[in-house]
Amino acid sequence: MSRNWTGELIYEGKAKRVYRVNDEFLVMEFKDEVTAFDGARKEHAPSKGKLAAAQTVFLMGLLGKYGIRNHLVDWDGDRKILVRSLRMIPIEVIVRNYAYGSFLKRMPLVKSMTKFSKPLIEFHLKSDELHDPLITTDDIIEAGLASQEQLNEIMGIALRINEILNNYMASKGLTLVDFKLEFGFDKSNNLVLADELSGDTIRVLINGRHLDKELFRRGSSSADLVKAYEEMNKILGIS
Ligand code: ATP
Ligand code: TYD
Repeated sequence: MSRNWTGELIYEGKAKRVYRVNDEFLVMEFKDEVTAFDGARKEHAPSKGKLAAAQTVFLMGLLGKYGIRNHLVDWDGDRKILVRSLRMIPIEVIVRNYAYGSFLKRMPLVKSMTKFSKPLIEFHLKSDELHDPLITTDDIIEAGLASQEQLNEIMGIALRINEILNNYMASKGLTLVDFKLEFGFDKSNNLVLADELSGDTIRVLINGRHLDKELFRRGSSSADLVKAYEEMNKILGIS
């Protein structure tokens, strides 16, 4: 299949542009941009799109080897990936191994980077206006976004993904702090992992040093963030 995918631009988010190729496929183009604080801080970041696309392709590929169904179909070797078009569930599924980020804001009784007794899973509604609020499983069911059975399946897949990523990261000397997942349904109503897996959506440390977007949130330049993504890719074994 030629990789000069074309299609109509149907969505532009902060990190990616989404094009519709046909009923079955979308192209997601990772932008050379980094944003934080709901877009309040934004910088051009040359090469970031390709690095984040490479991370997503590598990690989705790794998960695929372990039987985790995901939307990735192909990569153009640069900033674009071809994915299966899904009916998205508008929630962010966050898995946490260590106390960090918004967890610490709502639970200041726990010290930063305390390892949890077991991985925590939480759900946030995808809504920029409301700043992605934490929601309960009952909220999700009552809003008709997913059933209890589907949420159970999502939690099972999220924990399995955590195990796979944790093992791989640990084998490379990396600490997996937390990450964000998104899921959708395919035409046969199977749950499928979607969106991206990159330094924008995963917090990962090497010897206590961030290799993820936290650097930018804490004031580093976009150029330093790109260097960190390059380092992450080298450590993960991404060519
Ligand atoms: P923000 O702009 O706040 O970072 P966003 O999630 O809207 O958030 P992007 O990541 O830039 O922005 O855009 C990607 C969009 O594509 C998201 O809305 C995501 O839910 C959606 N998406 C991801 N994978 C698929 C898929 N396989 N099928 C349909 N939509 C998808
Ligand atoms: P979290 O601690 O909830 O949020 P914040 O980034 O505001 O401190 O983030 C947990 C993980 O989820 C972290 O790895 C970043 C990722 N994440 C996203 O990818 N997108 C998002 O919109 C949010 C809120 C988090």
